[in-house]
Amino acid sequence: MGAALWEAVDSYFNEHLAPEDEALRAALRASEQAGLPPIQISSGQGKLLMLLARAIQARKALEIGTLGAYSTIWLARGLPADGAVVSCELSAKHAEVARANLQRAGLDGRVAIKVGRALDTLAQLITAGEQFDLVFIDADKASYPDYLQAALQLSHPGTLIVADNVVRAGRVIDADSRDADVRGIRSFIERLSSSAGVLAVALQTVGERGHDGFALALVTGRG
Ligand code: DHB
Ligand code: MG
Repeated sequence: MGAALWEAVDSYFNEHLAPEDEALRAALRASEQAGLPPIQISSGQGKLLMLLARAIQARKALEIGTLGAYSTIWLARGLPADGAVVSCELSAKHAEVARANLQRAGLDGRVAIKVGRALDTLAQLITAGEQFDLVFIDADKASYPDYLQAALQLSHPGTLIVADNVVRAGRVIDADSRDADVRGIRSFIERLSSSAGVLAVALQTVGERGHDGFALALVTGRG
């Protein structure tokens, strides 16, 4: 019953509260046709990103891990017309699919996809003195601690950092795990807990994406 019930509840909520329009459905179809892994966030999670962006009145968002730009579309839709997203993607092929998906969604003018190692792009953004209002971390899990460190350097008091996949079907609690992803997530969580000036929480989710979770961190600037 577990997973089937979680999915049915997700379907019910998302049909009513996070329906996909044609641009999002086209993005999913194009991503599947191009052979991208089907690991994008759910529509409900996308709507949450959009809602959070609106709630904090974000103008500039940073995404680490574009994949086919499904999450990017939701995120960009939470920004005002003069808002902008910078999204980091390692794979040139994924970036090509993502750019076409963003164009179809009418958002290509508002999103810059940076192809290459995200840590290199982040270092460039730090050097350029860039700051973001919202950061969404959803790339390789082993690098989450490094992504967090960079995200904090690209933040101002009020910046919201959101990270996907912090539960991984519960594997996060295995302190002896030799899995680089699990170790990365644990080190990310521990770094969050020891960062001054950060108000953080992690929540489990169940549904279309199995048992996983989001971490949320608000940069307060106050230790
Ligand atoms: C994987 C990555 C993700 O970001 C996700 O949401 C689910 C799975 C993965 O690499 O397996
Ligand atoms: Mg993810």
